[in-house]
Amino acid sequence: MDATIAVLPGDGIGPEVTREAVKVLDAVAQRFGHTFTFVEGIVGGRAIDETGSPLPEDTLGLALDADAILFGAVGGPKWSDPRAKVRPEQGILGLRKHLGLFANIRPVRVFPGLEDASTLKPDVVRGVDLVVVREATGGLYFGPREEGTERAYDTLLYTRPEVERVVRLAGQMARKRRGYLVSVDKANVLASSRLWRHVAERVAKEEFPDLRFEHVLVDAMAMHLIRRPADFDVIVTGNMFGDILTDEASMLAGSLGMLPSATLGEGTNRHGHPRGLYEPIHGSAPDIAGQGIANPLASILSAALLLRYSLGLDEEADLVERAVEQVIAQGLRTADIAGVGEGTRVVSTEEMGEAVVSVMRDA
Ligand code: IPM
Ligand code: MN
Repeated sequence: MDATIAVLPGDGIGPEVTREAVKVLDAVAQRFGHTFTFVEGIVGGRAIDETGSPLPEDTLGLALDADAILFGAVGGPKWSDPRAKVRPEQGILGLRKHLGLFANIRPVRVFPGLEDASTLKPDVVRGVDLVVVREATGGLYFGPREEGTERAYDTLLYTRPEVERVVRLAGQMARKRRGYLVSVDKANVLASSRLWRHVAERVAKEEFPDLRFEHVLVDAMAMHLIRRPADFDVIVTGNMFGDILTDEASMLAGSLGMLPSATLGEGTNRHGHPRGLYEPIHGSAPDIAGQGIANPLASILSAALLLRYSLGLDEEADLVERAVEQVIAQGLRTADIAGVGEGTRVVSTEEMGEAVVSVMRDA
């Protein structure tokens, strides 16, 4: 297969982790006889410095032309004045919005051997394997807003079609997994949540009668995620609730450095698969940038999701995921998970990436 992949490394540790993910994709291409063409663009703080915009036209253009986008991370202290009109975060928000990437898929898996990485008891997190599907182009992030010094507001607005499409995608995902879908809202208080609940209920009952389906209030969900995380399969929710719950859920795995994500839209690429953006859940971690100690596995696992969802290359994606499991089983650990488990050895970003590639070559 021929595929064009837009690579947007961004700021902080973005470039160093993305570099390892690209190496892994190259190794996949070699092994399976694919041709992947990587086109690199600037985004976030670096793009602000170079062009004044966090999402320059050229970058948006190459993202729109590509079959999939591999994204690093954006932001850093240099651009973090909350009063600034132009902020690096607008780079990722702009991409989601311009490309219509409405469903942010955030799987949380506790890898065997890494149960001790979490601050929760190993018995609580053992076997956790859930996916949060977070609506990504609506809600509080994109509603009408006004920003004054005396008065400011944001608007939480959802329309029926916006809720339908994201719940539908979550339903399809649950069907391929363990068949359990939970929709999260705040319907006891918010009008937009009552619409969400009504629409989610209808989609679930009419289109997915085979699934076990429930509504849970967001505050209760925050609790359940800590108390009995292994009970959940697919959780679908709005933009802001999803932002918060996924940071919480990420701590079940102990390190943000292990968690990938995919953001998918309605549009398809040249191969008839959803166009998508793939990024680690972690941010730009400016405090450790440039030291070669960041964990590249979240970016590498994001590349695996890219292979699976946007290129339809399941076997290739499985190979990458198995290679990651294997390097963890071998005891290789970057600084963020150093010393977790028996017989471990601390390695650099690059060594971790190379280890994944070498396991893949030998597989
Ligand atoms: C995330 C991030 C972004 C978000 C920021 C960087 C705008 O926190 O992807 O979760 O809030 O969506
Ligand atoms: Mn977030």
